[in-house]
Amino acid sequence: MPTLALPTISNRTGAPVGPTVSAPSPEKHAFVHKLFTTIAPRYDWFNRLASMGLDIGWRRTAIERGTVTPGMRVLDVCCGTGDFALLCARRAAGQGTIAGLDFTHAMLEGAARKQRHERLNVEWFEGDAQALPFADNSFDRVLIGFSTRNLSDLRRGLREMLRVLTPAGRLIILETGRPSTALMRFGYWLYLRTVARAIGFVLTGRIWPFTYLADSVKAFLPPPHMVRLLAECGGQAEYIPLSGGLASLYIARKG
Ligand SMILES: C[S@@+](CC[C@H](N)C(=O)[O-])C[C@H]1O[C@@H](n2cnc3c(N)ncnc32)[C@H](O)[C@@H]1O
Repeated sequence: MPTLALPTISNRTGAPVGPTVSAPSPEKHAFVHKLFTTIAPRYDWFNRLASMGLDIGWRRTAIERGTVTPGMRVLDVCCGTGDFALLCARRAAGQGTIAGLDFTHAMLEGAARKQRHERLNVEWFEGDAQALPFADNSFDRVLIGFSTRNLSDLRRGLREMLRVLTPAGRLIILETGRPSTALMRFGYWLYLRTVARAIGFVLTGRIWPFTYLADSVKAFLPPPHMVRLLAECGGQAEYIPLSGGLASLYIARKG
């Protein structure tokens, strides 16, 4: 059974610095790839059941608050089975260009199946979010859903997403959140460690991917740290808590 060895968090002197961005990690890159290859066939079911359908509304809010409109060039980074990109394509009704990129082939297969079924216009790319195969200033909106915490080099990933954004563009980040009260936070972690893991096990017969997913939510950067990191990477971000902080939405301008 694979074990998750998340990198130690430290500054240049080696001293612990509290919740901050993890050091780049090839082990995490390979682990995350294996994880999503394993759960791809049941990913959509897990997402819907574990979030009790809330993710659908969060995606709509993200697109609305991020002012994604028909005719734009939109990139969904770490698109997985494509829910964000497909939502944009439905709204664009054939105008503009919508692209999705992910490094897990099995997740992209799921995305392409849904796209064919709905006959929507989306282009899929198999690639690394930390080395995007697009020119500078190529997209009006770049979206990333529930994936920043999975990047093995978050700083590099954020820089790449900002690089491919036009100067007037917006980077829209939707991520699992950090509820505002201690009681809600405790209930949320408990839910992830028990109910969500049980749902994952019933759907896939495996527990380790869902242990990682629960732990990665708990270990991820609190919102003020994420806003600061975005600023370091060249983005001015607004943080918008959704559903009492169960999800975090960040909308960043370049510069
Ligand atoms: C939790 S899923 C989110 C999928 C989708 N964005 C959604 O909202 O449902 C995380 C996705 O990130 C992808 N991913 C993780 N690291 C990546 C990387 N470095 N480059 C490209 N895709 C990556 C995984 O393959 C997986 O499909």
